[in-house]
Amino acid sequence: MSRPDLIDMVPHTAAKHLLLKLYLDRWFPILGKFNTRLNYIDGFAGPGEYAGGEAGSPIIAVKSALAHVQKGTLSSSVKVTFVFVERNEAFAHHLREQLAKLRVPSQFSINVVDGEFAAVISEILDGAEDNNKQLAPTFAFVDPFGFSGIPFDLMRRILAYPKCEVFINVMVEFINRFLAHPDEAVVSHFPITFGTDEVLKIPTRSQRRVGQILDLYRRQLAQYASFVGRFDMKGKKDQQTYSLFFASNDPKGFLKMKEANWSVDKSTGSQFSDAFARQSRLFEAMGVEGLWDLLAEKFRDQTVPMTEIEQFVTENTDFIPAHARSLLAEHEEEEDISVIPQPGYNRRKGTFRSDKVSIRFDKPKEKLF
Ligand SMILES: C[S@@+](CC[C@H](N)C(=O)[O-])C[C@H]1O[C@@H](n2cnc3c(N)ncnc32)[C@H](O)[C@@H]1O
Repeated sequence: MSRPDLIDMVPHTAAKHLLLKLYLDRWFPILGKFNTRLNYIDGFAGPGEYAGGEAGSPIIAVKSALAHVQKGTLSSSVKVTFVFVERNEAFAHHLREQLAKLRVPSQFSINVVDGEFAAVISEILDGAEDNNKQLAPTFAFVDPFGFSGIPFDLMRRILAYPKCEVFINVMVEFINRFLAHPDEAVVSHFPITFGTDEVLKIPTRSQRRVGQILDLYRRQLAQYASFVGRFDMKGKKDQQTYSLFFASNDPKGFLKMKEANWSVDKSTGSQFSDAFARQSRLFEAMGVEGLWDLLAEKFRDQTVPMTEIEQFVTENTDFIPAHARSLLAEHEEEEDISVIPQPGYNRRKGTFRSDKVSIRFDKPKEKLF
């Protein structure tokens, strides 16, 4: 089979891959610690390579798991099943060739399936549901080009299993363009993609259309996942191109994805734009100071275990515990808080070990000036 035309990699694709890698680098060892089987699904796998030779998402995933096996952080007794679905035959063939270049251990089962995401995943879920079986912890990456072929019902069914999560690319620029399409056949995809007819009620001429589309998708996911995160990708003109939604019922998974988001966007933890890809820190570190206000308000006059602060930050704010730690260090200097170590724990100033300290949010001594 001849080599297919590979796609050029744009900066936001690299950012998407970095997010995926950063998350999987955390996911494999954490989940592998307490489970003997893991599933990784890439529903729109692509050819495994970009025009400049850069790796596609399936290669990134296998290499992430492989690195952990080599380091000893993913035990050889954990069976990892990779399912890569790709409907373009030439791409599927190219992907098989790329995967064949990797030397993988026998605990990996790597499957490239020629087919449609929805059909292949439905079959896997039907099998589990019919036999009343649990799915092993599963990470499903759903990265279509467009908005059809990703029925919301499949997200619901995946999220119904414990430790199963989805990472979905919602192509909001396309959706926005086609939502008012005169052809009924085009429009009929939307209620299936969103799992509700409400999508058809989004006003055509609203300025806030993109926001409304994304808010609706978030609300839909939030019915089935306790934690929903979003990272926006923007194009050359800084226009909103797509958003990556992460949905999980696991607080630790949510935290790990937020950490990945903040590694990619050190200013807001929420976006990447091709327009500013060359400028390293375009946006001033805005917002982190706002976390202090949230903490001070929430915990005023209280003594709070560090674990509780971490949980609050992860689940109720856009930030991660690392931000809270740096703010706590600053405010300890300012004497806005005092730190109470557990008896017998010899604490170093500026450190905030989750299981070892509580924080008192008051001014421990009167400031005269
Ligand atoms: C955006 S690309 C995927 C890129 C890949 N995830 C990566 O990051 O390297 C989308 C891929 O999905 C394939 N595709 C489109 N519709 C599909 C469907 N319904 N089921 C499976 N694959 C599909 C296309 O051929 C294309 O290769």
